[in-house]
Amino acid sequence: MTPGQYPATRLRRTRQAPFIRSMVRETALTPANLIQPLFVAEGGLAGPVGSMPGVQRLTLEQLVAECRELVKLGVPAVALFPVTPQEKKSDDGAEALNADSLMVRSIKAVKDAVPEIGVIADVALDPYTSHGHDGVLNAQGYVDNEATCEILRRQALLYSRSGADIVAPSDMMDGRVNHIRQVLERDHRHNTLIMAYAAKYASAFYGPFREAVGSQANLGKGGKETYQMDPANTDEALREVALDLQEGADIVMVKPGLPYLDIIRRVKDEFAVPVAAYQVSGEYAMLKAAAQNGWLDERKAMLEALLCFRRAGADMILSYYSKQAAIWLAE
Ligand code: PBG
Repeated sequence: MTPGQYPATRLRRTRQAPFIRSMVRETALTPANLIQPLFVAEGGLAGPVGSMPGVQRLTLEQLVAECRELVKLGVPAVALFPVTPQEKKSDDGAEALNADSLMVRSIKAVKDAVPEIGVIADVALDPYTSHGHDGVLNAQGYVDNEATCEILRRQALLYSRSGADIVAPSDMMDGRVNHIRQVLERDHRHNTLIMAYAAKYASAFYGPFREAVGSQANLGKGGKETYQMDPANTDEALREVALDLQEGADIVMVKPGLPYLDIIRRVKDEFAVPVAAYQVSGEYAMLKAAAQNGWLDERKAMLEALLCFRRAGADMILSYYSKQAAIWLAE
Protein backbone atom coordinates (compact mmCIF):
# COMPACT_ATOMS: atom_id res chain seq x y z
CA MET A 1 0.00 0.00 0.00
CA THR A 2 1.43 3.36 -0.96
CA PRO A 3 0.96 6.22 1.50
CA GLY A 4 -2.30 8.11 0.96
CA GLN A 5 -4.14 5.19 -0.63
CA TYR A 6 -7.22 3.73 1.02
CA PRO A 7 -6.66 0.28 2.52
CA ALA A 8 -8.50 -2.50 0.68
CA THR A 9 -8.78 -4.49 3.87
CA ARG A 10 -10.05 -2.97 7.08
CA LEU A 11 -10.14 -5.48 9.90
CA ARG A 12 -12.18 -3.07 11.98
CA ARG A 13 -15.12 -3.70 9.62
CA THR A 14 -15.70 -7.09 11.20
CA ARG A 15 -15.40 -5.61 14.68
CA GLN A 16 -17.83 -2.71 14.31
CA ALA A 17 -20.94 -4.20 15.94
CA PRO A 18 -22.05 -7.23 17.98
CA PHE A 19 -23.84 -8.92 15.05
CA ILE A 20 -20.69 -9.15 12.97
CA ARG A 21 -18.37 -9.84 15.89
CA SER A 22 -20.49 -12.83 16.83
CA MET A 23 -20.38 -14.15 13.26
CA VAL A 24 -16.60 -14.02 12.91
CA ARG A 25 -15.89 -15.35 16.40
CA GLU A 26 -13.58 -18.34 16.00
CA THR A 27 -14.00 -20.10 19.32
CA ALA A 28 -16.75 -20.42 21.88
CA LEU A 29 -16.93 -21.22 25.55
CA THR A 30 -19.96 -23.16 26.74
CA PRO A 31 -20.74 -24.96 30.01
CA ALA A 32 -20.20 -28.21 28.09
CA ASN A 33 -16.49 -27.40 28.01
CA LEU A 34 -16.24 -27.14 31.78
CA ILE A 35 -15.33 -29.58 34.53
CA GLN A 36 -15.80 -28.66 38.19
CA PRO A 37 -13.17 -29.90 40.65
CA LEU A 38 -14.74 -30.54 44.07
CA PHE A 39 -13.18 -31.18 47.47
CA VAL A 40 -14.95 -33.60 49.76
CA ALA A 41 -14.34 -33.96 53.48
CA GLU A 42 -15.91 -35.48 56.55
CA GLY A 43 -15.85 -35.03 60.27
CA GLY A 44 -14.69 -31.57 61.22
CA LEU A 45 -12.71 -31.07 58.02
CA ALA A 46 -15.49 -29.62 55.85
CA GLY A 47 -15.65 -25.86 55.36
CA PRO A 48 -14.04 -23.01 53.46
CA VAL A 49 -10.56 -23.13 51.94
CA GLY A 50 -8.63 -20.08 53.15
CA SER A 51 -6.53 -19.46 50.05
CA MET A 52 -9.44 -20.15 47.68
CA PRO A 53 -12.27 -17.78 48.68
CA GLY A 54 -15.61 -19.19 47.54
CA VAL A 55 -14.36 -22.79 47.48
CA GLN A 56 -15.58 -25.24 50.12
CA ARG A 57 -14.55 -28.64 51.33
CA LEU A 58 -17.96 -30.28 50.95
CA THR A 59 -19.64 -32.91 53.06
CA LEU A 60 -21.03 -35.93 51.19
CA GLU A 61 -24.54 -34.45 51.31
CA GLN A 62 -23.31 -31.10 49.99
CA LEU A 63 -21.35 -32.88 47.28
CA VAL A 64 -24.46 -34.58 45.94
CA ALA A 65 -26.46 -31.35 46.06
CA GLU A 66 -23.68 -29.52 44.22
CA CYS A 67 -23.64 -32.17 41.47
CA ARG A 68 -27.40 -31.76 41.01
CA GLU A 69 -26.95 -28.03 40.50
CA LEU A 70 -24.05 -28.51 38.09
CA VAL A 71 -26.10 -30.85 35.91
CA LYS A 72 -28.88 -28.26 35.74
CA LEU A 73 -26.32 -25.66 34.67
CA GLY A 74 -25.00 -27.89 31.91
CA VAL A 75 -21.62 -28.71 33.46
CA PRO A 76 -21.04 -32.30 32.32
CA ALA A 77 -18.46 -33.58 34.80
CA VAL A 78 -16.83 -33.20 38.19
CA ALA A 79 -13.34 -34.12 39.41
CA LEU A 80 -13.34 -35.33 43.00
CA PHE A 81 -10.57 -34.72 45.54
CA PRO A 82 -10.84 -36.15 49.05
CA VAL A 83 -9.51 -34.53 52.21
CA THR A 84 -7.93 -37.23 54.36
CA PRO A 85 -7.58 -36.87 58.13
CA GLN A 86 -3.97 -37.15 59.34
CA GLU A 87 -4.66 -40.38 61.22
CA LYS A 88 -5.57 -42.12 57.95
CA LYS A 89 -2.34 -41.09 56.22
CA SER A 90 0.57 -43.52 56.12
CA ASP A 91 3.94 -43.99 54.42
CA ASP A 92 2.43 -46.34 51.85
CA GLY A 93 -0.82 -44.43 51.36
CA ALA A 94 -2.85 -47.55 52.14
CA GLU A 95 -6.07 -45.53 52.39
CA ALA A 96 -5.91 -45.22 48.58
CA LEU A 97 -6.91 -48.88 48.40
CA ASN A 98 -9.56 -48.83 51.13
CA ALA A 99 -12.79 -50.07 49.52
CA ASP A 100 -14.76 -47.93 51.97
CA SER A 101 -12.70 -44.75 51.73
CA LEU A 102 -14.30 -41.32 51.54
CA MET A 103 -13.35 -41.21 47.85
CA VAL A 104 -15.12 -44.50 47.11
CA ARG A 105 -18.20 -43.41 49.05
CA SER A 106 -18.18 -40.08 47.23
CA ILE A 107 -18.06 -41.69 43.79
CA LYS A 108 -20.91 -44.04 44.73
CA ALA A 109 -23.02 -41.30 46.28
CA VAL A 110 -22.73 -39.07 43.21
CA LYS A 111 -23.34 -41.82 40.64
CA ASP A 112 -26.26 -43.07 42.70
CA ALA A 113 -28.02 -39.71 43.04
CA VAL A 114 -26.91 -37.93 39.84
CA PRO A 115 -26.04 -40.70 37.36
CA GLU A 116 -25.93 -38.32 34.40
CA ILE A 117 -22.91 -36.39 35.67
CA GLY A 118 -19.48 -37.68 34.65
CA VAL A 119 -17.29 -38.53 37.62
CA ILE A 120 -13.54 -38.12 37.31
CA ALA A 121 -11.48 -39.82 40.02
CA ASP A 122 -7.93 -38.63 40.62
CA VAL A 123 -5.43 -41.47 40.84
CA ALA A 124 -2.37 -40.60 42.93
CA LEU A 125 -1.25 -41.21 46.49
CA ASP A 126 -0.67 -37.67 47.77
CA PRO A 127 -4.00 -37.36 49.62
CA TYR A 128 -3.07 -40.48 51.57
CA THR A 129 0.69 -40.40 52.23
CA SER A 130 2.21 -39.08 55.44
CA HIS A 131 5.04 -37.52 53.39
CA GLY A 132 2.67 -35.88 50.89
CA HIS A 133 4.23 -37.40 47.77
CA ASP A 134 2.22 -38.90 44.92
CA GLY A 135 3.88 -42.29 45.35
CA VAL A 136 5.75 -44.45 47.84
CA LEU A 137 9.36 -43.77 48.79
CA ASN A 138 12.30 -46.16 48.58
CA ALA A 139 15.05 -46.38 51.21
CA GLN A 140 16.75 -43.31 49.70
CA GLY A 141 13.58 -41.21 49.95
CA TYR A 142 13.09 -41.29 46.16
CA VAL A 143 9.58 -41.91 44.82
CA ASP A 144 9.72 -45.53 43.66
CA ASN A 145 8.23 -45.72 40.18
CA GLU A 146 7.38 -49.42 39.92
CA ALA A 147 6.16 -49.88 43.48
CA THR A 148 3.94 -46.84 43.01
CA CYS A 149 2.49 -48.10 39.71
CA GLU A 150 1.50 -51.34 41.42
CA ILE A 151 -0.60 -49.36 43.87
CA LEU A 152 -1.95 -46.89 41.31
CA ARG A 153 -3.39 -49.57 39.09
CA ARG A 154 -5.24 -51.11 42.02
CA GLN A 155 -6.46 -47.66 43.03
CA ALA A 156 -7.70 -46.98 39.49
CA LEU A 157 -9.47 -50.34 39.35
CA LEU A 158 -11.16 -49.67 42.70
CA TYR A 159 -12.46 -46.30 41.53
CA SER A 160 -13.65 -47.70 38.20
CA ARG A 161 -15.47 -50.53 39.98
CA SER A 162 -16.99 -47.97 42.35
CA GLY A 163 -18.53 -46.19 39.37
CA ALA A 164 -16.00 -43.56 38.25
CA ASP A 165 -16.50 -42.83 34.54
CA ILE A 166 -13.00 -41.45 34.14
CA VAL A 167 -9.84 -42.23 36.09
CA ALA A 168 -7.25 -39.48 36.04
CA PRO A 169 -3.72 -40.42 37.03
CA SER A 170 -2.10 -37.21 38.30
CA ASP A 171 1.04 -38.79 39.70
CA MET A 172 3.48 -38.58 36.72
CA MET A 173 5.02 -42.03 37.22
CA ASP A 174 6.46 -43.52 34.02
CA GLY A 175 4.27 -46.23 32.52
CA ARG A 176 1.32 -45.82 34.85
CA VAL A 177 -1.24 -45.34 32.08
CA ASN A 178 -0.18 -48.70 30.65
CA HIS A 179 -0.60 -50.38 34.05
CA ILE A 180 -4.03 -48.82 34.50
CA ARG A 181 -5.30 -49.56 30.98
CA GLN A 182 -4.19 -53.20 31.24
CA VAL A 183 -5.84 -53.80 34.58
CA LEU A 184 -9.08 -52.16 33.40
CA GLU A 185 -9.16 -54.29 30.23
CA ARG A 186 -8.52 -57.48 32.18
CA ASP A 187 -11.48 -56.58 34.38
CA HIS A 188 -13.66 -56.00 31.27
CA ARG A 189 -13.93 -52.35 32.13
CA HIS A 190 -13.45 -51.35 28.51
CA ASN A 191 -15.44 -48.14 28.75
CA THR A 192 -13.62 -46.57 31.66
CA LEU A 193 -11.92 -43.51 30.24
CA ILE A 194 -8.40 -42.46 31.19
CA MET A 195 -7.71 -38.75 31.44
CA ALA A 196 -3.94 -38.66 31.83
CA TYR A 197 -2.27 -35.74 33.53
CA ALA A 198 0.24 -36.03 30.71
CA ALA A 199 2.14 -32.74 30.80
CA LYS A 200 2.00 -31.92 34.48
CA TYR A 201 4.60 -29.45 35.64
CA ALA A 202 6.28 -29.07 39.04
CA SER A 203 4.47 -25.81 39.68
CA ALA A 204 4.22 -23.28 42.48
CA PHE A 205 0.62 -22.69 41.40
CA TYR A 206 -0.62 -25.83 43.24
CA GLY A 207 -0.13 -24.20 46.65
CA PRO A 208 -3.79 -23.49 47.51
CA PHE A 209 -4.83 -27.02 46.41
CA ARG A 210 -2.31 -28.52 48.81
CA GLU A 211 -3.80 -26.39 51.56
CA ALA A 212 -7.31 -27.50 50.56
CA VAL A 213 -6.55 -31.23 50.75
CA GLY A 214 -4.12 -30.83 53.64
CA SER A 215 -1.05 -32.27 51.88
CA GLN A 216 1.14 -29.16 52.16
CA ALA A 217 2.07 -29.80 55.79
CA ASN A 218 2.98 -33.39 54.96
CA LEU A 219 5.14 -32.37 52.02
CA GLY A 220 6.93 -29.67 54.00
CA LYS A 221 9.64 -27.95 51.99
CA GLY A 222 10.00 -30.91 49.63
CA GLY A 223 9.02 -30.53 46.01
CA LYS A 224 7.86 -32.94 43.31
CA GLU A 225 10.59 -32.15 40.78
CA THR A 226 11.75 -35.77 40.47
CA TYR A 227 8.47 -36.73 38.82
CA GLN A 228 6.60 -33.60 37.69
CA MET A 229 7.96 -31.73 34.66
CA ASP A 230 10.38 -28.82 34.61
CA PRO A 231 8.49 -25.62 33.66
CA ALA A 232 11.32 -24.84 31.24
CA ASN A 233 10.47 -27.76 28.95
CA THR A 234 8.17 -28.05 25.96
CA ASP A 235 9.51 -30.88 23.69
CA GLU A 236 9.38 -33.14 26.74
CA ALA A 237 5.66 -32.43 27.06
CA LEU A 238 5.11 -33.87 23.59
CA ARG A 239 7.04 -37.01 24.58
CA GLU A 240 4.90 -37.38 27.71
CA VAL A 241 1.72 -37.01 25.68
CA ALA A 242 2.90 -39.45 23.00
CA LEU A 243 3.64 -42.09 25.63
CA ASP A 244 0.36 -41.65 27.48
CA LEU A 245 -1.58 -41.99 24.22
CA GLN A 246 0.37 -45.12 23.24
CA GLU A 247 -0.35 -46.56 26.65
CA GLY A 248 -4.09 -46.02 26.26
CA ALA A 249 -5.07 -42.55 27.45
CA ASP A 250 -8.29 -41.17 25.95
CA ILE A 251 -7.77 -37.56 27.01
CA VAL A 252 -4.47 -35.83 27.75
CA MET A 253 -4.15 -32.97 30.16
CA VAL A 254 -1.84 -29.99 30.37
CA LYS A 255 -1.42 -28.49 33.83
CA PRO A 256 -1.23 -25.73 35.06
CA GLY A 257 -3.25 -23.69 32.60
CA LEU A 258 -2.72 -20.07 31.72
CA PRO A 259 1.11 -19.95 31.92
CA TYR A 260 1.17 -23.10 29.74
CA LEU A 261 -1.11 -22.20 26.81
CA ASP A 262 1.80 -22.75 24.41
CA ILE A 263 1.96 -26.37 25.55
CA ILE A 264 -1.77 -26.84 24.97
CA ARG A 265 -1.40 -25.48 21.44
CA ARG A 266 1.56 -27.72 20.62
CA VAL A 267 -0.19 -30.80 21.98
CA LYS A 268 -3.38 -30.09 20.05
CA ASP A 269 -1.53 -29.38 16.80
CA GLU A 270 0.72 -32.39 17.09
CA PHE A 271 -1.77 -35.07 18.19
CA ALA A 272 -5.31 -33.85 17.39
CA VAL A 273 -6.76 -35.74 20.36
CA PRO A 274 -9.05 -34.57 23.17
CA VAL A 275 -7.06 -32.14 25.32
CA ALA A 276 -7.93 -31.02 28.83
CA ALA A 277 -6.46 -27.98 30.54
CA TYR A 278 -6.40 -27.44 34.30
CA GLN A 279 -6.80 -23.88 35.53
CA VAL A 280 -5.22 -24.74 38.86
CA SER A 281 -5.81 -23.52 42.38
CA GLY A 282 -3.14 -20.80 42.25
CA GLU A 283 -4.67 -19.35 39.09
CA TYR A 284 -8.05 -19.24 40.81
CA ALA A 285 -6.50 -17.63 43.88
CA MET A 286 -4.82 -14.93 41.79
CA LEU A 287 -8.02 -13.97 40.00
CA LYS A 288 -10.00 -14.04 43.24
CA ALA A 289 -7.52 -11.93 45.14
CA ALA A 290 -7.38 -9.28 42.42
CA ALA A 291 -11.17 -9.28 42.10
CA GLN A 292 -11.66 -8.96 45.86
CA ASN A 293 -9.34 -5.96 45.86
CA GLY A 294 -11.35 -4.37 43.08
CA TRP A 295 -8.33 -4.60 40.76
CA LEU A 296 -9.98 -6.81 38.14
CA ASP A 297 -13.51 -7.27 36.85
CA GLU A 298 -13.90 -10.88 37.99
CA ARG A 299 -16.61 -11.85 35.56
CA LYS A 300 -14.84 -10.47 32.50
CA ALA A 301 -11.34 -11.59 33.47
CA MET A 302 -12.47 -15.08 34.36
CA LEU A 303 -14.56 -15.65 31.24
CA GLU A 304 -11.72 -14.28 29.13
CA ALA A 305 -9.21 -16.64 30.73
CA LEU A 306 -11.50 -19.62 30.13
CA LEU A 307 -12.13 -18.62 26.52
CA CYS A 308 -8.36 -18.36 25.98
CA PHE A 309 -7.98 -22.01 26.98
CA ARG A 310 -10.42 -22.89 24.20
CA ARG A 311 -8.57 -20.71 21.70
CA ALA A 312 -5.28 -22.38 22.65
CA GLY A 313 -6.80 -25.77 21.78
CA ALA A 314 -8.30 -27.14 24.98
CA ASP A 315 -11.51 -29.12 24.49
CA MET A 316 -12.29 -29.14 28.19
CA ILE A 317 -11.20 -27.07 31.15
CA LEU A 318 -10.99 -28.05 34.79
CA SER A 319 -11.69 -24.85 36.71
CA TYR A 320 -12.79 -23.94 40.21
CA TYR A 321 -14.80 -21.26 38.42
CA SER A 322 -16.78 -23.75 36.31
CA LYS A 323 -20.07 -23.39 38.16
CA GLN A 324 -19.85 -19.60 38.30
CA ALA A 325 -18.88 -19.48 34.62
CA ALA A 326 -21.88 -21.64 33.69
CA ILE A 327 -24.16 -19.29 35.63
CA TRP A 328 -22.72 -16.22 33.93
CA LEU A 329 -22.78 -17.85 30.49
CA ALA A 330 -26.49 -18.58 30.93
CA GLU A 331 -27.33 -14.93 31.61
C1 PBG B 1 -2.04 -34.32 43.15
C2 PBG B 1 -2.76 -33.22 42.47
C3 PBG B 1 -2.41 -31.88 42.57
C4 PBG B 1 -3.37 -31.16 41.88
C5 PBG B 1 -4.28 -32.08 41.34
N1 PBG B 1 -3.89 -33.37 41.72
C6 PBG B 1 -1.32 -31.20 43.33
C7 PBG B 1 0.06 -31.66 43.23
O1 PBG B 1 0.49 -32.26 42.26
O2 PBG B 1 0.77 -31.39 44.20
C8 PBG B 1 -3.34 -29.66 41.78
C9 PBG B 1 -4.58 -28.98 41.42
C10 PBG B 1 -4.61 -27.53 41.69
O3 PBG B 1 -3.63 -26.89 42.10
O4 PBG B 1 -5.69 -26.97 41.49
N2 PBG B 1 -1.76 -35.46 42.51
